[in-house]
Amino acid sequence: MIHRWHILGAGAIGRLFACKLQHLGLAPVLVLREGARGDTIITRRWDEREESIPVTTVGVEALEPGEITGLLVTTKVNHAVAAVEACLPALAEGAPVILLHNGMGVLEELRRNHPTLSLYAGTTTDGAYRDGEVLVHAGLGETDIGGGEVPDWFAPFESGEERVRWCEDIDAALWKKLLINCAINPLTALHRCRNGALLDNPALRAEVELLCEELAAVSAARGNARGAGCALDWALGVIQRTADNQSSMLQDVLNGRETEIRYITGYLVSEAERLGVPVPRNAALLRQLDSPIPSH
Ligand code: PAF
Repeated sequence: MIHRWHILGAGAIGRLFACKLQHLGLAPVLVLREGARGDTIITRRWDEREESIPVTTVGVEALEPGEITGLLVTTKVNHAVAAVEACLPALAEGAPVILLHNGMGVLEELRRNHPTLSLYAGTTTDGAYRDGEVLVHAGLGETDIGGGEVPDWFAPFESGEERVRWCEDIDAALWKKLLINCAINPLTALHRCRNGALLDNPALRAEVELLCEELAAVSAARGNARGAGCALDWALGVIQRTADNQSSMLQDVLNGRETEIRYITGYLVSEAERLGVPVPRNAALLRQLDSPIPSH
């Protein structure tokens, strides 16, 4: 099968991956909530450089049956299940579906409800946000995709400079990303600060350390020794690399959108409950953020 990749979710990460896939020669199609087939230009800014990348777009209603032969899901985690389900009539049989969202829980739900889907999971530490019409690539990260043996369709993803690699143990990678998101996203959303403030401000740094102690304890109870030993180092490393970035949760709060807290800290807290590990700091953040935050 020739894979024409469709990207579901036209936010900052979806647009960033549209640029990446275009660079990899995969001619992606960005699926929008509505609209006829058309073309758009994405302006990507990084390191004070700018490039304009042409990308094809199509509204979900205008998709042809069987048109999607590869689907990359970059929607907000809260919308991922409904968004994938809306695309099912357009999905060719056996087409790979890669879930690339923050948080955990969606893969399990889709596996349960649609056992024939060819599901893969991915995780990225790229940082991006939208500044008006410009896509700011604020933190150059790495993307891991996995879910079993490396499939044939994956070869082009590794062929360029886009730092996308196949991951043997994607469950461990998803857990690692969950820990990083638990340590960064709620604090930046609550304090309305860029990621770097979590290192620069001693009180916030102390908070990160306390959160990471709990994250390490849950990891240990899950039998994840690397998470138990490295949670703090992982979080600090990503904070440093994405210092200039507004976390996705901060962007949600600033734009008055529902946050992903239930699939990030919420997932962590329910795992902690299941395993009998107390996580009072994470639970407090969940309570504080699991309701709309009034704008300042
Ligand atoms: O959600 C985010 O913002 C990103 O996953 C990360 C890596 C924390 C960078 O801001």
